[in-house]
Amino acid sequence: MQIIHGLKGLGLAMSALRSHGTVALVPTMGALHEGHLALVREARARADKVVASIFVNPLQFNDKADLDRYPRDEDADARKLEGAGCDLLWMPSAADFYPEGFATTVHVDGITERWEGEHRPGHFDGVATVVTKLFTNTRPDLAIFGEKDFQQLALIRRFTRDLNLGVDIVGHMTVREEDGLAMSSRNALLSSDERTTAVVLNHALKEARRDILAGKEVKTVLSGARAKLTKAGFGPIDYVAYVDPDTLEPLDERANEGRLIAAAFLGKVRLIDNFEVKLAA
Ligand code: PAF
Repeated sequence: MQIIHGLKGLGLAMSALRSHGTVALVPTMGALHEGHLALVREARARADKVVASIFVNPLQFNDKADLDRYPRDEDADARKLEGAGCDLLWMPSAADFYPEGFATTVHVDGITERWEGEHRPGHFDGVATVVTKLFTNTRPDLAIFGEKDFQQLALIRRFTRDLNLGVDIVGHMTVREEDGLAMSSRNALLSSDERTTAVVLNHALKEARRDILAGKEVKTVLSGARAKLTKAGFGPIDYVAYVDPDTLEPLDERANEGRLIAAAFLGKVRLIDNFEVKLAA
């Protein structure tokens, strides 16, 4: 696996990869776990060459302490990527991406206003700006993102279409720990007690899905899920919502296709998760 730091040499390396056929990009912020490696394997299955990027993007952290705390382990990450079949690892620096005088933001309306957008001001502008830069620098045929960040995936699909970036966006099912907790780089920051409790987020959403499918009133189901989280020790709860999977607008009544989404703190760690809620055809 080739490793490139910064921008120098990236253009040439990308042209060389493109001469072998299609190229898939797996953008990450490092601290890689099985969930990321599943994205790399999916990329391998779908394209001739695979590029992964690691960049802890300061623009998408609305909380400086969260950025400082974000786990980093580049050597272990490189080994894992190589093992999963990645051809090129690209690690730009903040100085490469945001040099003195950088003044451009990619902002997406609508889809970004609620949920993560409301609770993490500026977060989605940071994501949209960095992913646009990752795409324009590598010009991949396709890019793979986890469904765990469900609103992020919807946002990336939106601006990729709106800006005609010509990249196929592929969503990959959330990879979970054995007990059902969604894999996340942030899980490493949980204490062992918190780690035991964390699975309640998964349980609360699964129960909510079962109840919505059974026809229970949506409002009652969502408040039940919030109560379950509070009782287990989560708080504050940023949101537990049932939404349209494309627009992320809240749904008051059971729909053919919906998504349950949630974000809540457990101690200092903010966890998110989501589940598809689809009526049988
Ligand atoms: O999901 C992530 O890890 C990040 O938000 C992404 C897409 C790599 C952009 O920094």
